[in-house]
Amino acid sequence: MEQPVQTEVWKAQTLQELIQILHRLFSSDKVRVEEVQALMESYESNPVEWMKYAQFDQYRYTRNLVDKGNGKFNLMILCWGEGHGSSIHDHTDSHCFMKILQGNLKETLFEWPGKKGTGAMTKKSERVLGENQCAYINDSIGLHRVENTSHTESAVSLHLYSPSFDSCNTFDQRTGHKHKVKMTFYSQFGERTPGATAVSQENN
Ligand SMILES: [Fe+2]
Repeated sequence: MEQPVQTEVWKAQTLQELIQILHRLFSSDKVRVEEVQALMESYESNPVEWMKYAQFDQYRYTRNLVDKGNGKFNLMILCWGEGHGSSIHDHTDSHCFMKILQGNLKETLFEWPGKKGTGAMTKKSERVLGENQCAYINDSIGLHRVENTSHTESAVSLHLYSPSFDSCNTFDQRTGHKHKVKMTFYSQFGERTPGATAVSQENN
């Protein structure tokens, strides 16, 4: 008889512990989405632990690499100033987990445009994610846009991508036309990436 799949309940007290458990969960090739999502939600955001990665830019949101996940995933912190947002984008066939560390982010889901990519894109849903919540998306769910709609508060989020990727497609909401973009990091392991500007690392 087949054994039921045992999903363990993991809890992380600190960011360091979260990273350690993530390494364990991703060491096998089978990713259990609910397990990872619950683990990421269990970590109660403590700014002291992630402050060194939270490097903001005045004009655009930034991507800051925290951990390379032993080649299995990339963990990064995104910093969203007031009114900063992403384009509509896909996730290059990867898993994408997004946990809020500070503030709120609005996530708007869209359907993939038709093959010809013409006409306005169809919005499926939208929601506001609050502190410590963890969202999940992949290409079979659809496309999304992420925004900090607040004009008074910044926002910080923790993203895990598995496998990691450094380019994705962005989509024009009015026409559905797609455009491939390459992403870089504003900082890595707490150090500013030499020569990196926020412009070249948008969209995730
Ligand atoms: Fe995304």
